[in-house]
Amino acid sequence: MSLDDVSAVSDARDSGVFHDRESSAFHLLLREQVRHEFTASQQYIAIAVYFDGADLPQLAARFYAQADEERGHAMMMIQYLLDNDLEVRVPGVDDVVNAFGSVREPVELALRQEKKVTEQITTLARTARDTGDYLGEQFMQWFLAEQIEEVASMTTLLTIVDRAGENLFHIEDFIAREMTSESRGGGNAPRAAGGLA
Ligand SMILES: [Fe+2]
Ligand SMILES: [Fe+2]
Repeated sequence: MSLDDVSAVSDARDSGVFHDRESSAFHLLLREQVRHEFTASQQYIAIAVYFDGADLPQLAARFYAQADEERGHAMMMIQYLLDNDLEVRVPGVDDVVNAFGSVREPVELALRQEKKVTEQITTLARTARDTGDYLGEQFMQWFLAEQIEEVASMTTLLTIVDRAGENLFHIEDFIAREMTSESRGGGNAPRAAGGLA
């Protein structure tokens, strides 16, 4: 946590923004993560639209679905804040990339994004543990497992893109055969605000 974050917490406390429990380092990071997840969702929509425009419907469908999942993650975090009677603000999103020079580029970007999110989720879990926030630590477990899955499947997709070379039908064919029935969340997924995840 940076010095700015620390003073943001004390400012918020002084102004009485947080009505009940004090806002911890973990809660500050979690609010930040809500924005990261919404941004990831928006980035995946941009990637899906790029593939849709390039007449690659399987790749497009894959990223439209992934965008929904990221939105679901944000909504799970919002539900956690609601459940714990903590301040919730729905954030805007950061800029996303819309222009790509090849089919590989967006997949590469997606893999980079998933690796970055894995670092963020790990920091959240570590912060919860270090501050004795057992509820927060337990909440992050599902996201850690989810990140392993998402990095793995994006790595596979990048490998397939590289292997396919010029023949984009190979990629479409692979996704249609191997990647359509992937599980979404599993039974122990946290509840999402609004009921969708
Ligand atoms: Fe996510
Ligand atoms: Fe993700």
